[in-house]
Amino acid sequence: MRYLAAIALMASALTPAVAARPIAFADSAPQTGALVLPLSSAEDLAAQTGLHEAVRGVVGAALRSADFDYEAGSSLTLRGIGPWSQLVIVGTGDEALDAAALQDIGGKAAAETAQNDGPVTLVATHLARSIDNAAVQLGVGARLGGYSFDRYKYADPKDPRPAGLDAPFTIVTGDAAAAETRFRREGQPLAEAVTFTRDLISEPANVVYPESFVARTQEAFQGVGGVTIEVLDVPAMERLGMGSILSVGRGSARPPRMMIVEYKGSGAPANPIVLAGKGITFDSGGISLKPGSGMWEMKTDMSGAAAVVGTVLSLAKRQAPVHVVAIAALAENMPGGGATRPGDVVKANNGKTIEIINTDAEGRLVLADAVAYADKRYDPAAIVDVATLTGAVVRALGSEYAGLFSRHDNLADQLAAAGQTTGEELWRLPLHPSYSRDVKSDIADIKNSGEGAPGAGYGAHFIGFFVEPETPWAHIDIAGTAWNDADEPTVPAGAAAYGVRLLDRFVQDFQPVPRGKGQGGY
Ligand code: BES
Ligand code: ZN
Ligand code: MN
Repeated sequence: MRYLAAIALMASALTPAVAARPIAFADSAPQTGALVLPLSSAEDLAAQTGLHEAVRGVVGAALRSADFDYEAGSSLTLRGIGPWSQLVIVGTGDEALDAAALQDIGGKAAAETAQNDGPVTLVATHLARSIDNAAVQLGVGARLGGYSFDRYKYADPKDPRPAGLDAPFTIVTGDAAAAETRFRREGQPLAEAVTFTRDLISEPANVVYPESFVARTQEAFQGVGGVTIEVLDVPAMERLGMGSILSVGRGSARPPRMMIVEYKGSGAPANPIVLAGKGITFDSGGISLKPGSGMWEMKTDMSGAAAVVGTVLSLAKRQAPVHVVAIAALAENMPGGGATRPGDVVKANNGKTIEIINTDAEGRLVLADAVAYADKRYDPAAIVDVATLTGAVVRALGSEYAGLFSRHDNLADQLAAAGQTTGEELWRLPLHPSYSRDVKSDIADIKNSGEGAPGAGYGAHFIGFFVEPETPWAHIDIAGTAWNDADEPTVPAGAAAYGVRLLDRFVQDFQPVPRGKGQGGY
């Protein structure tokens, strides 16, 4: 019976999490289903001459009576008006609409109409204050805001899912054909990559573990050109001297993996941007066991690895002219009989030794081998690591910002700018020279946890210790942003896939970083 259950879980893992409404573009709105109207003011409504005058009158009265403020994020759903089963007004505010704001409108529209048993139409013809690919951004937002992970919910065969829930989400725009082409080329790859990343994060740790994470990745990249996937198993990692990641995997029955996904677009530079991701498929803490309450959330401790692989998927699917390598450091942190003990000393593949003070500080251990290996092998234009690394960053920044650390101001600035445009925002935190003293070990070159308060900084410093000082390197701590407790327009509660939109933008806009030894106590 238990065997059968395991097979059922594996089989269903190959089906999509849920059918999503297809995104379409048209020059005019069908007179049925749900209609979504983004508005900045009462005057904006008056200008909607495409709507019947009587409908405009009723909607205007409803908005006045509800004291609707037209601010971004507000919405009002009306029923039984004109031919529509549902009419949703979405506030846009009166600022110029950037990509992130447009995605929010699309996301809000999709979320509000998710339960509508029929087609959905979003009127975008009047969003003239916005950027040139506004319709594409609305479509991306709709896909992201309409995401849900229902794979393990019981589907009653006698009560099938209404077909109308999968009817198209149509965006009405002046140049529908051009928007359609651009969406398929730029928008859809990003939306699909975010969906891939969210699915991986949402899956429980009995389904997604290092080997199945690899299998999922190989499946997602089937038929995508310019990509090579290399997988280092335990013997391969032993040969390369990756004693740090191996020490984390030893307490688990599921062996660790180091997966390297490289994409080189045509005409792209020889030196890649390396994106390294923490891929702890479950973090029990190991021998330094975590308390039980909330431990389930540690199935999301591979969010960094899922985000960097998702970023490469997005860039490769659209055949962007970039050279990028994702390196996913995959292991399960468990307290089995072979587990690493506090006090153990291990050696990373660059020869540096580590005293393990706390087996729950395992993210930095798997990343040490990933960044040292990538630095040596690729001579990268930059290394950016992404990790759900510390509880300390959650206390410092909450869920609005991920923590950003770098020895290279120029690289930090490029990442922060990408955060601004995509809405996946970063806040820079320091790498003080004193951290180096605080993580000195009596027995090894460094210890994996420091004495003192700046926990996020110690984690960042530790990873940076395994990167050459001249290599432009940045660390992004996403412990507070990887999982959403409450719905947001483009991020329904659950796995956020934080970092995919950010890094997709960052890699495309990347400018070479001036070399030289960075600051920060090295
Ligand atoms: N995966 C955790 C960090 C984490 C905490 C992620 C909360 C998401 C939400 C990480 O491996 C960890 O356990 N960090 C320790 C480090 C400490 C032992 C030095 C922490 O932050 O307490
Ligand atoms: Zn962890
Ligand atoms: Mn941990």
